[in-house]
Amino acid sequence: MDSSKSINSNSSDFSTSIGDFKLEKEIGEGAFSKVMLATNEISSKECAIKFIKADESISEKNLKSFFKNEVKVLKKCDHPNICKILGYSYRDSVPGKENYCVSYIALEYMKNGTLFDILENGALEAKYTRVLFKQVLSAIEYLHKLGYSHRDIKLDNILVSSNYDLKLADFGLASKSKKSSTVKGTLYYMAPEVVAEKEYNTNDSDLYAIAIVLFSMLTHSMPFNVASKKCPLYRKIMTDDWASFWKTHSSSKLIDNDFKDLFAKMVDPNLELRLSISEILDHPWMKGETATKEEVVKHLKTRIQSEVNLTKTQNKEESTNMAERTGYFNIRSAGKLMKYLEEFAKNEKLNYKTCPNYYRMIAEIGKKPKDLVLQMNILKRHESYQRCVELILINGKKKDFLNFKSKVEEFIASRQNN
Ligand SMILES: Nc1ncnc2c1ncn2[C@@H]1O[C@H](COP(=O)(O)OP(=O)(O)O)[C@@H](O)[C@H]1O
Ligand SMILES: [Mg+2]
Repeated sequence: MDSSKSINSNSSDFSTSIGDFKLEKEIGEGAFSKVMLATNEISSKECAIKFIKADESISEKNLKSFFKNEVKVLKKCDHPNICKILGYSYRDSVPGKENYCVSYIALEYMKNGTLFDILENGALEAKYTRVLFKQVLSAIEYLHKLGYSHRDIKLDNILVSSNYDLKLADFGLASKSKKSSTVKGTLYYMAPEVVAEKEYNTNDSDLYAIAIVLFSMLTHSMPFNVASKKCPLYRKIMTDDWASFWKTHSSSKLIDNDFKDLFAKMVDPNLELRLSISEILDHPWMKGETATKEEVVKHLKTRIQSEVNLTKTQNKEESTNMAERTGYFNIRSAGKLMKYLEEFAKNEKLNYKTCPNYYRMIAEIGKKPKDLVLQMNILKRHESYQRCVELILINGKKKDFLNFKSKVEEFIASRQNN
């Protein structure tokens, strides 16, 4: 019998060796995949192995097509800021498991996590942001010249190499640069023309997404929830009420007039006016102070080595101010809730450290013994659950956050009393 299976999210499901690779530990998880650190038994080199994850919400056929797509695009790429493919298999047998096959992609191992992880320690000063952002621009320029669009550019899909260079990854949604009207990508990074389900050019929407990445790097928050009229902050942009938009973000000390001008032009809904990559590079903000490579490495090293300190007064104040004024939370301010969940996970001996962010940590909790699942379901039934999960990743409405937080507090207290 010939049955090919996607990997299940439970890592004990597969053996510790696949093909030439000895699997070491889980290092990441995305919507479609589980990623493990592995060693090539022939070369002794470390690499990352990305497996397709089984999920009821999406057919295996579709998953395989994402997977084959990613392999196809990655094989064409050869750029210092794009994560390299080292091998792949659509059906590799698993030792000791008859009739069981897995599909995987072997990738260059990005030892220092994602850009999202880097930002957990706060905003990056402009001099570092410029250097790192240029690397992202260079990757996208290369990809577009090759005739492809990425279509899911975001902090989690930009990885940090052992040399502290940024590399674009996750090409599951990439396609030939073209006109499309399919809503693809991640909501926070979706251009207005994508959200509106109009016909759009896939390269233009990549350029919009990098504006959101740039904003997050420099401010440690998202500019708005979604590029749609429904989002009050985005409405300000559409009505050209930039003054009010920037007032909302006035706690971000690193925003200057040049940056305001650059960002506004990068997210322009008018595609004729939205900046191209060369125009971005020529913008006065990009010509500002730039750190040397050594300084960038030194800075990123300290960020990666230092534990995220969620109780730092300065950060706490920054979050509270932001929340009070805007009704929105930035990445840091969701930290308190994360902290609760982290402590909870620790007490329950859940493997939270292997989860790249806390949305996934909740998912981990969801898989644990029945009574925990039941109790977590109380939270899940809460109508704001879905949005709070988004908030944990990026930001969200203050009311939802507070509701959710008090539920978590109650839940933790009830467990501690028992
Ligand atoms: N080459 C790699 N080296 C180290 N970590 C990786 C690598 N590729 C992916 N990861 C981790 O796994 C996560 C999911 O990988 P990704 O390719 O984005 O999958 P998905 O398509 O499911 O989003 C990433 O956000 C990152 O944390
Ligand atoms: Mg991803």
